[in-house]
Amino acid sequence: MRRRLPVIEERLELESNPATALISVAGENGVTHAIALLHNEIHANMGCLASTTSPNLTLTSFIAMNTLPSERPHILQIGRLLPALEAWLRERYETHALDDETDPAAFLAEQGGRFAGVATSALYGISPEQIAALPNLRVISCFGVGVDKIALPAARARGIPVGYTPDILNDCVADTAFALVLDVARSTPEADRYVRAGLWEERGPNSFHLGRRVSGARLGIVGLGRIGRTIARRALGFEMDIRYHTRHPVADVPWAHEPSLVELARWADFLVVITAGGAGTRHMINAEVLEALGPRSFLINVSRGSVVDERALVRALAEKRIAGAGLDVFEDEPHVPEELLTMDNVVLLPHIASATEETRLAMARRTVENLDLFFAEGRMISAVPNP
Ligand code: NAP
Ligand code: 8YV
Repeated sequence: MRRRLPVIEERLELESNPATALISVAGENGVTHAIALLHNEIHANMGCLASTTSPNLTLTSFIAMNTLPSERPHILQIGRLLPALEAWLRERYETHALDDETDPAAFLAEQGGRFAGVATSALYGISPEQIAALPNLRVISCFGVGVDKIALPAARARGIPVGYTPDILNDCVADTAFALVLDVARSTPEADRYVRAGLWEERGPNSFHLGRRVSGARLGIVGLGRIGRTIARRALGFEMDIRYHTRHPVADVPWAHEPSLVELARWADFLVVITAGGAGTRHMINAEVLEALGPRSFLINVSRGSVVDERALVRALAEKRIAGAGLDVFEDEPHVPEELLTMDNVVLLPHIASATEETRLAMARRTVENLDLFFAEGRMISAVPNP
């Protein structure tokens, strides 16, 4: 769909010729402003960078971001990124994909000095060794919100800011969490397989096993940050009873804080995990928590595979100590433990919680905007806060 900036839209209501409309904007606001608007509109309509996605941008940064620097900074791209993001980066910067190198370490040792920026994703992150091999690195921009694979201490020690994409993906990750809640409770993937295998026809009406009710059930949320709250709001529509576990109780929510994770698991029908990953949460969901969850309740994990002790989970599922699990993330992606592949009470997704066209494009835009604003003004729209 063709997009227009409101200021040009307004002019077109008075003046149908776009060129005259633009000249009148230039007359009132200056030529640079008009050129910047035109530039932005061309980008927006080519499906390229649209600065209007960030309403909090000042005019100065808007113009700066839409004016290509005379010397294009060199950006190192770690891992393959969304094709649109790679294209936008190439359009604006001298980019080099580390994945194209047969010996990435040797390449960095030889060429590392030329890179001022890094574009990476939550999946790949950046290691302390890679940061050390980039002596002129000034900024890191990450496609994604989880920063557990980014060597933050190494970046901070050198004063290198890290951009990320918070909030943009809340809705889609919460939607996926809820899809998994419904899938495990009602066995929808298993029921689909049942129909396709001809078993419904063979065994007749009402032959598929009964599911469990989601509406009105007890939802325990582990981690009540940006995404956790969005999941809780979804659950309100299902009239669920909600409690949560975090290290610090959240002040402005109506739901009960449960200081003990084991007690939350004991209480919940569905335990949804959406904490940050990393060392602080590693194997939080362990054998004791799973035992407390019990044979009538389900585990959903949309945070990071590292948060769940996967061996303990496989054992709990195999011994029917929990009712089932819905998993978007795994300890050693893309490897999934063999035992899970044959279990009917488990729903397995290939880390797709944020993976819609709309959300991934918005994340890509923010990844580029963070770099653009950094090179224009030395700041970013969304940078990982310092502790
Ligand atoms: P956020 O706003 O920073 O929320 C993180 C939550 O985790 C906070 O409520 C925090 O509360 C809690 N937490 C952190 N450490 C904890 C601990 N040791 N014990 C208990 N609670 C702890 O982050 P977000 O934007 O909601 O994202 C959360 C995570 O989701 C990301 O870090 C990422 O790993 C994951 N994610 C996954 C996907 C996917 O595709 N599956 C997509 C996006 C994000 P306290 O600090 O009070 O403990
Ligand atoms: C993506 C994610 O899978 O944002 C995160 O932390 O895990 C997901 O949104 C990831 O960013 C894709 O690289």
